[in-house]
Amino acid sequence: MCGIFGYIGKSNKASEIVFNGLKTLEYRGYDSWGIATLKSKITVKKRVGKIGNANVDDLPKSNFALGHTRWATHGGVTEVNAHPHLDCSGQFAIIHNGIIENYDEIKEELLKKKHKIVSDTDTEVAVHLIEEIYRKSTGKSKKENFLEATRKAFNRFVGLNAIIVMDAETSTYVAAKNGSPLAIGKGSNENFLASDAHALIPYTKNIYFMEDGEIISVTPENISIFDALTGRKKTLKFNKLTWKQTAIDKGKYPHFMLKEIFDQPKVIENIINDSKFQIINFSDIIKNSYGTYLVGCGTAAYACLAGTYIFSKISGRHLNFSVGSEFGYLVDFLTPKSLVIALSQSGETIDVIDSVKKAKVKGAQITSLVNSLGSTLYRLSDKKLLLNAGVERAVVSTKAFTAKLTVLILLAYQLAGKISEGKSILRECLKVLKEVLCRDNLNRIRKLVKTLVSQKHIYIIGRGVSYPIALEAALKIKEASYIHAEGFAAGELKHGVIALIEKNIPCIAFLPNDETYGATLAGCMEMKARGGYIIGISHKNHEVFDYYLPVYDVGIASIIPSAVVGQLLGYYLAIEQGLDPDKPRNLAKSVTVR
Ligand code: F6R
Repeated sequence: MCGIFGYIGKSNKASEIVFNGLKTLEYRGYDSWGIATLKSKITVKKRVGKIGNANVDDLPKSNFALGHTRWATHGGVTEVNAHPHLDCSGQFAIIHNGIIENYDEIKEELLKKKHKIVSDTDTEVAVHLIEEIYRKSTGKSKKENFLEATRKAFNRFVGLNAIIVMDAETSTYVAAKNGSPLAIGKGSNENFLASDAHALIPYTKNIYFMEDGEIISVTPENISIFDALTGRKKTLKFNKLTWKQTAIDKGKYPHFMLKEIFDQPKVIENIINDSKFQIINFSDIIKNSYGTYLVGCGTAAYACLAGTYIFSKISGRHLNFSVGSEFGYLVDFLTPKSLVIALSQSGETIDVIDSVKKAKVKGAQITSLVNSLGSTLYRLSDKKLLLNAGVERAVVSTKAFTAKLTVLILLAYQLAGKISEGKSILRECLKVLKEVLCRDNLNRIRKLVKTLVSQKHIYIIGRGVSYPIALEAALKIKEASYIHAEGFAAGELKHGVIALIEKNIPCIAFLPNDETYGATLAGCMEMKARGGYIIGISHKNHEVFDYYLPVYDVGIASIIPSAVVGQLLGYYLAIEQGLDPDKPRNLAKSVTVR
């Protein structure tokens, strides 16, 4: 969702630094962008669409700029609605991530006071409120009045928000946060700010992750931090990050999505080799808990659902599962003995963060399988297991999913006291993955895609642990190619969905070599009898299949190469239509609003 990048310091290339910072945040998903530069007065440049080949040569050379990529919530995708927004006088510019839920009431008040509000956004209301409070402030220095006005305005906002406000009179900025992520980077006589710490790594490793309810005032030389509610000064301690700047180019691949699909064997191998102690510790926590809840959203939710089957089958352990947005309604079940395992690539998904906070209130222990080091979820968790899948740049999640499956399989085998078996099937799985990713197989998938691309609907079935894989394959196809794909439990076919099957409708079935094979095959027969075009993803071919995609048997780990086939179908269905699978319409990489 919205990306934020700010620079204040000794370089007179602030606009370019911010522009490049925004480019590194592009993967979060956005539909317009803008930059405010201060050189005696604030100049704003805003554009609808992607940054593409744009430049900022037309902005003044200056040492202070703020930039924003907007993912529209309040107000359509227009230049006027893009951030930054100015107050009536042009003294303040604001960028914002989140939703000011009570903006209507504040707007009404401001309009009565003759503020000129030009956009449809909640954000613009915030900068006018700051202006209104600032104009009435007396006594203190301009810098203190600016900080105080921003603080008071921020405290009026209902909802989860991060705001950064530039003041042309004092050449400072103030940032406040309650919900959306903000990281501060400290350099020598220059300071940076971003919604994602990765964007700061090229400039500095001295990072501070702002906590909710904090407000900072920043000049090139100084950063002061305060409690946003009371205004009381706090001490600020920067951490030295040891992250390497992860390779974030596409290498030899035309898209990040394909690169990340091909990253998977290495990611899985690293997890098998490097996670021994973390797996032991984590499985002990599960063993000692009483009531364990897996929580995640989207693709991560499907990993959670797969986790319930994996733990049941391998370690005879019942784990509960809920999507993040629903978990808040189930917290009545939680006690201090409960364990929450939150799964998230970004560690910033607000529905997961909300869930975890509610569970904390109930005294539950919070753990996470998370990919982004330093993210909100990472910091909120009592115990975390880093997926180490590397930065995922394509909006469509791939390698974080299979990394989560790998960890869940290892945890379940560790819990069952059979970790060597778990590692061994995962090593075998790497061989099968190689076959799935080999040229012949890619050609086989591309050939199938030529048949599928003209279809309006695709149905996908699986049973047991292949059920979440069917759901995930459907999500990949929907997100990347915009073709309606629906995954469901094969047994549910006859309870309704079979009404949709008619001549030549593509029906994809996951049939691994497990106890689900026969029953799922029966589902294929039923669909075939109604004219369905059956695509079997299985360890062996069968006469009912109109098209066969092989995934050889590696026990429960077969779900990993099976999921990769789903990813490749999504990818090539997008390519066949000339779509950019890295940036699907309307989607954001980290979903930081409810
Ligand atoms: C699907 C996808 C989303 C995310 C979901 C959760 O390809 O990317 O469904 O999986 O928004 O995101 P994280 O894992 O960052 O919590």
